[in-house]
Amino acid sequence: MSKNNNTDKNQFDISLNLNVRGVPLSATLLINEISNKLINEGRKVYKLGLGQSPFPVPQMVVDELKVNAHQKDYLPVKGLKQLRQAVADYHSRRNDIRRNAENVLIGPGSKELMFLLQFVYYGDLVIPTPSWVSYAPQAKFIGRNVDWLNTTEKNKWRIAPQDLENLCKRDPDKPRIVILNYPSNPTGATYSVSELKEIAAVAKKHHIVLLSDEIYGELHFEGKHISIAKFYPEGTIISSGLSKWCGAGGWRLGTFTFPSSLNWLLEAMSSMASETFTSTSAPIQYAAVCAFRGGISTERYLNNTRRVLKSLGLSIHKKLDKAGISAPKPEGGFYLFCNFNKHAAKLKKVGITGGSQLVQKLLEDTGVALLPGSVFGRPENELTARLAYVDFDGARALAAAETLPPYKIPDDDFLNTNCSNIIKAVNLICEWVKKN
Ligand SMILES: Cc1ncc(COP(=O)(O)O)c(C=O)c1O
Repeated sequence: MSKNNNTDKNQFDISLNLNVRGVPLSATLLINEISNKLINEGRKVYKLGLGQSPFPVPQMVVDELKVNAHQKDYLPVKGLKQLRQAVADYHSRRNDIRRNAENVLIGPGSKELMFLLQFVYYGDLVIPTPSWVSYAPQAKFIGRNVDWLNTTEKNKWRIAPQDLENLCKRDPDKPRIVILNYPSNPTGATYSVSELKEIAAVAKKHHIVLLSDEIYGELHFEGKHISIAKFYPEGTIISSGLSKWCGAGGWRLGTFTFPSSLNWLLEAMSSMASETFTSTSAPIQYAAVCAFRGGISTERYLNNTRRVLKSLGLSIHKKLDKAGISAPKPEGGFYLFCNFNKHAAKLKKVGITGGSQLVQKLLEDTGVALLPGSVFGRPENELTARLAYVDFDGARALAAAETLPPYKIPDDDFLNTNCSNIIKAVNLICEWVKKN
């Protein structure tokens, strides 16, 4: 048996595409694996690394999936017609931009659609540092150049329009995709209307293809997310899906909504889709129609998930701030981007001079798993890390939120009862920096 295995192993020389060589497993998955290893050793681990919605999929959407379990045929490459229509209507209703079914492309997760977009569009990718972990590796796989736009903590780690202008000015004719993601993963920050207008003006001036990653849009704490497509309709593709607001990451359904002026990208992406994944899972698409059509029960679900996340995000932000760990105040989603720089001198004494060492030592000492800032494009020697406040029983928190009066923000008692892991984990982080 083992002889055969050896023979199997040695049969092939490793011959990998140069673009793929040396690209490790996605960092978020890796931290989850290390955490699971510690759990198997009997340690208590607080999983604040992986960014997955804690909430269950709305019952109405689950029921639709059950009813449609028998749907077995391949669906059209671009997606089920009534789903494409529902997504177009959703954006008209929510974002006040007119789109029709022909402008919508459905895929197995928005991540896959982003990969297709980067593949078919010939141009540079521009992303801020920090930004979501997968944009840059996708560009590397395809052999695209990545231009990182630096940001400052003072500006909540967001794109400054002048910096984008300066970058474009250096080579005005270069084709570019800029990804704007808000509320942001990893910071929880968003943009005001005037800031969106300024970015839109630069994008318009330089004919940028703007990919507006609004996957956390519905998790804006006040339900007041505004799409930049409103201010640059002709050049903005809106990326959305079921993964975050609907708690259905594992269902794998994402949507891209194009302006008619960019439908040539939709067509090229569809050709690629037809030769790769063919179409998105049929039962999931049928169920998604009901999610995008929305209604009173969806609004109630959203109101409850938003107020739990708002209360929790603001509460732990306050604790961390008191302990000298800075982060932009969260405005949506479920992340905080923490900066331990005020503790740099003390941490240096125990051999911690960068984000990776920081999160590793923190995990070993306290069992709290975070992700280092470097995986979001920050320098390795910066003491930043992302905290995802999702390690709690979302079904239980949702049920408890349903019993509150509609406008009440969950208080500390609520959080201690329903989100205790997060509160404990943040207390452990604060004690740890004090001790070190
Ligand atoms: C900012 C951002 N964009 C896109 C995605 C991809 O979402 P999906 O492929 O599940 O639609 C994620 C998932 O974590 C994300 O955080």
